Amino acid sequence: MRQKIDKIPARLDLTQSVTGLILGLFIMGHLIFEASILVSNEMMYKVTVMFEGYYFLGQTHPAIVSLLAGFISIVFIAHAGIAMRKFPANYKQFKTMQKHISIFNHDDTSLWMVQAFTGFIMFFIGSVHLYMMIAQPEHIGPFASSNRVVHEFMGPLYVLLLLSVVSHAFIGLYRLALKWGFMEGKDYRASRKRFKILMKAFIAIYLILGSLSLAKYTYIGMTHDFSTCAKYKSKTINLEQH
Ligand code: HEM
Repeated sequence: MRQKIDKIPARLDLTQSVTGLILGLFIMGHLIFEASILVSNEMMYKVTVMFEGYYFLGQTHPAIVSLLAGFISIVFIAHAGIAMRKFPANYKQFKTMQKHISIFNHDDTSLWMVQAFTGFIMFFIGSVHLYMMIAQPEHIGPFASSNRVVHEFMGPLYVLLLLSVVSHAFIGLYRLALKWGFMEGKDYRASRKRFKILMKAFIAIYLILGSLSLAKYTYIGMTHDFSTCAKYKSKTINLEQH
């Protein structure tokens, strides 16, 4: 009698790749939209109300941001939950894996360790950030965000989150391309080398962009007079009030 093939491991692998791709693309867009603060306060405000539906519905609806953050949270939890099946379950397994990685001395295998470590950090820090975005979507804007970074002490958390998410996202996208055969080409070695350069370039660009944005939010948070101006944006688009 032919044995039935268990398709669950393959389906879990595919789900992990698809959720990873969604999160990777999301974070690429997120850090660019959020860097609108580098253009001007007004630009960041316009991006904020765009996500609240102002340009499509004529009114701001911060609940849209909650819904988006809720969706991303589900994808985030699913991705992390599925990834956990590959984590070593006890110290003995951890030592065996560490020994294997050092004997193997293979770049792409070592990158897995970076993924596991940054993923573990993000599980905690990312959840704090996502919960805030779900619970207080109306507290986003050039001044509200700067207030959170400086006076609500989210700055140090964002530095850690930025470092882990940027490396995790681009190493993840690189591994995804490797796994699903997007870098075969005529000469797979040359193509793998090119993808690795691209991965490093993206990590560097996004780390610089994210750090500059965080520096600008910190500057606004430290210099803005929150006592004379509305800390949070009002419901109607009126940049003078912010
Ligand atoms: C829909 C869900 C999300 C929304 C609405 C959102 C929104 C924001 C906003 C408005 C900021 C600016 C600071 C602030 O206001 O507190 C910020 C910063 C940041 N977010 Fe998110 N975020 C979301 C999901 C995520 C996820 C899933 C991650 C990564 C796991 C992430 C990583 C970061 C990082 C690293 C920063 C600091 C950015 C920098 O260095 O420039 N965010 N986010």
